[in-house]
Amino acid sequence: MTTRFEPSGLENVKNKVIVVTGGALGVGACLIRLLHSKGAHVFFGDLLDEEGKALEQELSSSSAQVKFVHCDVTSYADNLALFDAAYQSHGRVDHAIANAGLGEQGQMFDPTLTLESVKKEPTKSLKVVDVNLKGVLYFARIASVYLRQPPRRAESNEGCVDKSLTLVSSVAGFREDPGLYVYTASKHGVLGLVRSLRSSPVTSGPPRIRTNAICPWMTRTRLVAGIEDEWQKAGLPSNAPEDVASVIAGVVADGQVTGGAMYIEGGRAWNVEAGLLKTRPEWLGAKQTADLDTGTALMGGGEHWTANASSQV
Ligand SMILES: NC(=O)c1ccc[n+]([C@@H]2O[C@H](COP(=O)([O-])OP(=O)(O)OC[C@H]3O[C@@H](n4cnc5c(N)ncnc54)[C@H](O)[C@@H]3O)[C@@H](O)[C@H]2O)c1
Repeated sequence: MTTRFEPSGLENVKNKVIVVTGGALGVGACLIRLLHSKGAHVFFGDLLDEEGKALEQELSSSSAQVKFVHCDVTSYADNLALFDAAYQSHGRVDHAIANAGLGEQGQMFDPTLTLESVKKEPTKSLKVVDVNLKGVLYFARIASVYLRQPPRRAESNEGCVDKSLTLVSSVAGFREDPGLYVYTASKHGVLGLVRSLRSSPVTSGPPRIRTNAICPWMTRTRLVAGIEDEWQKAGLPSNAPEDVASVIAGVVADGQVTGGAMYIEGGRAWNVEAGLLKTRPEWLGAKQTADLDTGTALMGGGEHWTANASSQV
């Protein structure tokens, strides 16, 4: 059994309206260029105004629109403004990609911490949760509403059939990375969000919103600056940012794949979530697997939790 995912059909993104965060640099910038080259209308947000505007300018001479919107993903209002810019211009949003991310900040679990130094609250470390998890929760909430809107204008009907939400997690979203404590916890959170959304009433439609996670391993951007040489010497595979962009665009263009988690190494992708689900009866047992699924179905869309006054604060 293989769970390889090969990006194809990128021409399907032509004329689609796509919202992306973290588009000024790295994987995001490669993704904006790729989607634009295939004829998509791209609205991208980032903190970095200079780099964002320069990319918008670079791609401006084309019929496909590229628009930079200043957006700090930790701000709910900024996420709203990004989606609204796309919706006001084209009357619909087809695909949404949460790509912005921040690497580990400071030392949350410094082994040299003492009874004295542990008294200082680790605010810098927690910024990672704000960007990588809180920002993605904001983004996904707002995306789910914009994606399910019927097109505002008759002439903008084209491309409204396939909708998708793609959240960039990491290899640290499904396995350990000692030292990247907060980053790993936040990226596991992103995969958890994909799992809880993928077959929920929020995404099951109509219209269905295909929901997937992207889990790259080492990718040559500023996020991993300083470790490339050691990595290469060890003979380990790495991705160019273009590789990751191509898998993200492939998931968006695919039209079918949903609930997946695309692990990417050395430029190749595997849907590890599909493998995990397929083999679950083997490693957990058929009855346990069936019971888990029955329990999930029983809990439905979360009404039980919100109706339970004793669990609400
Ligand atoms: N590079 C890797 O090895 C690697 C591996 C796994 C996952 N990822 C993930 O891929 C995604 C892209 O990372 P990258 O490698 O291109 O890094 P990068 O630092 O080159 O790009 C990240 C982008 O996100 C933007 N950003 C950061 N905080 C933001 C905020 N608060 N609001 C808006 N934008 C913000 C940055 O300005 C930048 O443009 C991230 O989610 C990252 O966690 C990267």
